[in-house]
Amino acid sequence: MFNLLVLPGDGIGPEIMPEVKKIAHWFQRHGVDFTLDEELYGIASWKAYKTLMRDETWAKILAADAILFGATGSPEYAAIPREYQREDWLLRMRRELDLFTNLRPIRTTPGMEDASTLRPEIVGGTDMILVRELCGGLYFGSPRGIFENADGSRRGINSLVYTTSEIERIGRAAFALARSRKSRVCNVDKSNVLEVFMLWRDTIVALHAREYPDIELTHMYVDNCAMQLVRAPRQFDVIVTENLFGDILSDCAAMVAGSLGMLPSASLGAVDAKGRRKALYEPIHGSAPDIAGKSLANPCGAILSFALCLRYSLDRPDEAKHLEDAVDRVIARGVRTLDIAQAGRATVSTSQMGDAILAEL
Ligand code: IPM
Ligand code: MG
Repeated sequence: MFNLLVLPGDGIGPEIMPEVKKIAHWFQRHGVDFTLDEELYGIASWKAYKTLMRDETWAKILAADAILFGATGSPEYAAIPREYQREDWLLRMRRELDLFTNLRPIRTTPGMEDASTLRPEIVGGTDMILVRELCGGLYFGSPRGIFENADGSRRGINSLVYTTSEIERIGRAAFALARSRKSRVCNVDKSNVLEVFMLWRDTIVALHAREYPDIELTHMYVDNCAMQLVRAPRQFDVIVTENLFGDILSDCAAMVAGSLGMLPSASLGAVDAKGRRKALYEPIHGSAPDIAGKSLANPCGAILSFALCLRYSLDRPDEAKHLEDAVDRVIARGVRTLDIAQAGRATVSTSQMGDAILAEL
């Protein structure tokens, strides 16, 4: 049996995840087999147990087939004594579960083109997936730290490190994904300046020639890519890039979709001998402390993350599509949370949006 672990987490996480559970239960009732477990994470864990991560919770994280994650981050962390908050547990989950493939699909939901700050004729029809390397690069490279110089001044260091095997495995993920889409990959790097990206590009080019000659491969420097994303976003199918670039570019691309609130993500590990892989699904909007506790949050990003779970973990592509189409139809009918509100029209609460999607299913 496939076991899913829900970690609502901080900020709006505890408001959106009950909506995901409503949807997940619907699929359970309609023939998709999995169990759902839940644990407190982040500030909620601190308040209940005086620790940010219980051993029991960590054991469940390691044992779960997939994790449905809400959000991390809260001003309340500032009040927790330093020695209890050394670790960022989200980064630790990514690293220890080796979730190196981060998929961030970015599309304009039909009928929502006007929610973007960009012109509708620019963003309309955008449909791309950003493939972000999630376990290497600047986030995890060493040496790292803040060091003292002889003269008492300080220097901070992080290292951008990639090995050929790390580049190859994320390259394969992107090329394989492109085969199920429009067969186009745009590799994004900074190989005009940095050695690590000279290796990155050489490795991607060689991998392409060796294993994926059927895919159209293009290259962009990251600065140009940032511009192209807002200038002509429809040109992209699959983008592959390193960790920090992917972090930055995905927020930028999110505005093409109109609202961060709509966007899902999947973080996937390698496929094991049994054909299974570890996975974590989370909306990309983060904890949004400014609106937390007010029932204003948009649960669509989290619900669409569950659709990715149906597709990539539960191997139920038809059910995934069924859910994505249901969200599209609800949005097209004009059901809107505050972040995607239409001028002069009423908005719905977090749970009303969840109920509308459930009814649509
Ligand atoms: C993201 C977030 C995270 C990141 C933070 C919360 C650590 O911004 O998933 O994009 O930087 O990767
Ligand atoms: Mg980010």
